[in-house]
Amino acid sequence: MVGSLVATAFWAMLPAYVPNNAAVLAGGGRPIDGGRTWGGRRVLGDGKTWRGTAVGTLIGVLLAVGLNAINDPVSTALGVTLPTFPLHAAVALAFGAMLGDILASFIKRRSGRERGASFPGLDQLDFVVVSLLLAFVVATDWFLATFTPGVLAVILIITPILHVGTNIIAYKIGVKNEPW
Ligand code: CTP
Ligand code: MG
Repeated sequence: MVGSLVATAFWAMLPAYVPNNAAVLAGGGRPIDGGRTWGGRRVLGDGKTWRGTAVGTLIGVLLAVGLNAINDPVSTALGVTLPTFPLHAAVALAFGAMLGDILASFIKRRSGRERGASFPGLDQLDFVVVSLLLAFVVATDWFLATFTPGVLAVILIITPILHVGTNIIAYKIGVKNEPW
């Protein structure tokens, strides 16, 4: 029971989890805010680029397509009916994750935090909340069928753990500047 909730939560959120990590690898080039400032501080900062956002979203959507392709054998092996992703839901999850991270940077800059500063709580949940909200708006029926209260509860617990874990690994292997 709990095992199938965890499997469903992890599977359903993979297209939202991977984009931010892909953006770290793909980042660089023109910042989204074009260097503009607001109230003496950067609107978003150099850490939010067009390339990172586009590549992150694309990787998330391609991942969802890949997960759909292997859904049957994995569901059978686990004995769990894992969700499949309609294209609009995949785009919402992946782009929503990038958007949540961008909004978090906007909030960080307004609160005086420089690029790379940590904001405990916001850093770990920004992308999930916006990703889920966008999926709810764009693919309501699919969202309600997939993200049951139990699945949502598991997501709120496993996401910060996975986020902290992957960022520490990314920092240790040298692809990320800070361990958060
Ligand atoms: N990145 C990007 N575009 C995005 C998100 C991330 O290019 N939309 C890349 C950037 O190279 C960024 C790195 O991924 O430096 C790490 O992402 P993140 O930790 O979100 O950015 P920070 O540099 O820490 O900046 P911020 O304080 O705004 O979060
Ligand atoms: Mg950061």
